Formats: sequence, structure tokens, C-alpha cells
Amino acid sequence: MTDWIDIAAFSDIPLRGSRTLDWGGTPVAIFRTHDDEVFALVDRCPHKGGPLSQGIVHGHAVACPLHNVRIALATGAAIGDDSGCTPTVPVRRDGDRVLIAMPVRAAA
Ligand code: FES
Repeated sequence: MTDWIDIAAFSDIPLRGSRTLDWGGTPVAIFRTHDDEVFALVDRCPHKGGPLSQGIVHGHAVACPLHNVRIALATGAAIGDDSGCTPTVPVRRDGDRVLIAMPVRAAA
């Protein structure tokens, strides 16, 4: 079972933009698309680590601001001739709230 954390109002995430947060020590970008869907990816491009949160959202993809590799928001995979994948993070919308899966902690 997934434990969810309320992280933001949906309206606080800019249309075709993103917000970032620290997810158990990992930087995560929450994206909002033109059709009001939300996706979450680790905020590191699989090419050379660029900040995907600063990229431009086109449809259900984001273009990395460093070298323009396009990343599919649903899978984290590079699109086209590029390769690599950044991890996705479970996220969902509940009305005007956005919830993200609680980070998994290693057993002590
Ligand atoms: S670091 Fe993202 S395209 Fe190069």
C-alpha cells in the first residue's frame, strides 16, 4: 500500500511548468501539463544531470534545458534517438491537492 503526502495545491503548479521538492534527499520535479495532468520525475536528466524542472514542457514531455534531450513524463525515458531514463515518482491529484508517494525508507 502506498502512503501519500500532500505536497501542494494543484493551482500552485504552473501550467506547462513545474515545482520542485526534496523527496527523502532526492530532488524531484512535479510537472503540470497543458491538459492538467501531473507527473513526477527525479530532477536529473539521464544525459548529464541537467535540472529537468527548468526545462520546457511540451505535451507530455519535457525538454532538458542543457542539451534539449526530450524526456517522456510518464516513463522518464528519453525520446527519439536519445537514450537513458530518469526515475519516475508516484504522484496523483486529488481535487486541488497534489499528493506524492512517501519515500521508501530502508529497514533499520
Ligand atoms: S543534461 Fe539534459 S540534455 Fe544534456
